[in-house]
Amino acid sequence: MVKIFTGGAACPVGTHMPNDRRMGESDPVSIAVEVLREGGLVALPTETVYGLAADAENELAIRRIFAVKRRPASHPLIVHIAAAEALSAWARNVPAEARALARAFWPGPLTIVLPKQARVSHAISGGQETVALRMPAHPLARKVLEAFGGGVAAPSANRFGRVSPTSAEHVREDLGEEVDYVLDGGACSVGVESTIVDLSRGDPVVLRPGGLPIEDLERVLGRSVPVRDDTTVRVPGQLASHYAPRAGVVLAEPDAAFSRAEQLRAEGQRVAVIAAPEAHVPQGVSRFDVPGDPAGFARELYRLLREIDARGFEVIVAMLPPEHGLGLAVRDRLRRAAAPKDDSVDGS
Ligand code: TXA
Ligand code: MG
Repeated sequence: MVKIFTGGAACPVGTHMPNDRRMGESDPVSIAVEVLREGGLVALPTETVYGLAADAENELAIRRIFAVKRRPASHPLIVHIAAAEALSAWARNVPAEARALARAFWPGPLTIVLPKQARVSHAISGGQETVALRMPAHPLARKVLEAFGGGVAAPSANRFGRVSPTSAEHVREDLGEEVDYVLDGGACSVGVESTIVDLSRGDPVVLRPGGLPIEDLERVLGRSVPVRDDTTVRVPGQLASHYAPRAGVVLAEPDAAFSRAEQLRAEGQRVAVIAAPEAHVPQGVSRFDVPGDPAGFARELYRLLREIDARGFEVIVAMLPPEHGLGLAVRDRLRRAAAPKDDSVDGS
């Protein structure tokens, strides 16, 4: 179902009001493209998470993304493109390894960081000399990008510091009327954000584990690719408490989850356990099953964190998936969700 929201008084930077007349006469993709052309914000489904999309070359629209997300201007945005051929329109000195990765994994859940072209504004790059590029695979995102023709800047469509949205409903919950148009593409098939690989300074480094397994990157590049462990950088997803539900999160390896949950319950806390179906969970504790495979866990993770919050649990005991494939991204997000919520760190 497609709904039109009007941007308005709540938007401090620029407004956009798609008129109702269009609803009857255009298909959802055409409306989304028109809203982007007019400088509006569109919630765009991608296979990873929903993005809050704007014309990458419209300065006012970009500023509005930051205002709506309540995101500090120093945190750069990913530019989404329709085809790998557009790489050199946005990036300079594109190395062979970047082209090889684009050929192998685009469209898909991989973002590549490269030196930026002059057309990438400082608002997008957060004042840095690089740009992050991605070609998403969701059919609606592809149609919008192809029809729009230009680059589309889009962070995840959640308020800064909250869990990313994996359905149109999540976007509406978080951003309400501050987004001009929500393009509903159903539930996201990957469920965690893209893997970000930095190729702007020689050897590849993963800045954020995500929807593309690092093993796949390494196979194509023919060498190992380290994950940068740096909590002070420009990647907000890398700040300690970024992906935070309201409930406290306790991590547990599978063999320790039962006793941890039992102990918290005995202390009088309302406990939810996220576990694979075969796991044993104490009585009096609510269980939320995730598929046993890491990709299935990734697909369900954010939806479950939101649901558990909505149902008022105080603590989540999350059983960690194995450390391979998408398990790495899930463990990363859970670890950040479990980190102390410190406003001075990330403003969430
Ligand atoms: O799957 C995804 O990547 C989703 C969908 C919508 O494409 N987008 C997403 O955007 O997760 P966002 O803004 O929530 O996270 C993008 C991350 C941020 O942590 C940002 O700091 C980092 O990418 N980033 C963007 N440009 C960068 C750059 N030039 N250098 C290093 N990191 C960059
Ligand atoms: Mg985000």
